[in-house]
Amino acid sequence: ASLRALNTFALPANAAQFCRLEVAEQLSAALEQQAASGLPLFVLGGGSNLLLTQDLPAFVLHMATRGKRVLEQQGEQAIIEAEAGEAWHPFVQWTLAQGWAGLENLSLIPGTVGAAPVQNIGAYGVELADRLHSLDAWDCQRGEQVTLLPQQCAFAYRDSCFKREPGRWIILRVRFLLTALEHAELAVDYGPIRQRLAGVLAPTAQDVAAVVCAVRSEKLPDPAKLGNAGSFFKNPLVSAEQAQALLAQYPAMPHYPQTGGQVKLAAGWLIEQAGWKGHREGDAGVHREQALVLVNYGSATGAQIYALAQSIRADIAARFAVDLEIEPIVI
Ligand code: EPU
Repeated sequence: ASLRALNTFALPANAAQFCRLEVAEQLSAALEQQAASGLPLFVLGGGSNLLLTQDLPAFVLHMATRGKRVLEQQGEQAIIEAEAGEAWHPFVQWTLAQGWAGLENLSLIPGTVGAAPVQNIGAYGVELADRLHSLDAWDCQRGEQVTLLPQQCAFAYRDSCFKREPGRWIILRVRFLLTALEHAELAVDYGPIRQRLAGVLAPTAQDVAAVVCAVRSEKLPDPAKLGNAGSFFKNPLVSAEQAQALLAQYPAMPHYPQTGGQVKLAAGWLIEQAGWKGHREGDAGVHREQALVLVNYGSATGAQIYALAQSIRADIAARFAVDLEIEPIVI
């Protein structure tokens, strides 16, 4: 089966075997098929965090289960549940329309609800882990369904137990703890969000969502128009000493001290400084508006995108002695 329409880089690649799961009750049948195939399992959501450099030698389980509901209301808060295959952004909009705030900063992130915990999606000061109530997953190692609380998911910056143990977990549905719009505590510390809200008197969660969509649309390419997987590199952590040394040389370098003493740098800034922004090799390129995003102008292969990424990594290591880690899952 071709995966071209199922990865946001629009890369040509085939799955050795493919199964689309539309109903969670059919999971055991699908897993029996997978076992019979002798192939490893690969769980696919929206394909928005994936770089396919070759055919996928796996049994691809495409999570396409649908459904969302307000499970339980407790005063100013509610537990809201969605099935793994729900598209993320429409789900965020639906929660706001139902009167529940909390996910507005995560507006317009590509992908599905079930994939969101895998890389602990985050933007503009909020991470999925901050809003997660619990999730149901199938544990392929133990052969049973489990309910996990946030503290059991080993969440970190763009990381989780699901990302660290590929093939073990199938996230089936996710529950969020959200707050009634009128009681929402908005996260508006991120500079560009704060600036755009400056003229708005008493901003609401919907205002934040609108501003986040505007900021994202300016910087981040729409995968429906230009293939990409969002940020291609993680923002690197360096020691305080190394950050000081770099700042002596580049006083304007963005830097974010972390608890524990390390300093997070902006990979996009490093890549832009090194002259890569807008660079293009055939149909593989570095986005013109945001150097952290690699793009497929049409007929790039995953191997070409990967080669470009390796050239960037080598250059950043040589110039700044910083090791950039690739964010998407590379096949
Ligand atoms: N910068 C540049 N040049 C660039 C890009 C960025 O100089 O080409 C500078 C900016 O001016 C700013 C700093 O780098 O001073 C940080 O840039 P920005 O605020 O745009 O955010 P980011 O660090 O590039 C991260 C996330 C994004 C998320 C934004 C907003 C990662 C890997 N990326 O990007 O997440 O939307 O912050 O919170 O953490 C994603 O994961 O796919 C993603 C888009």
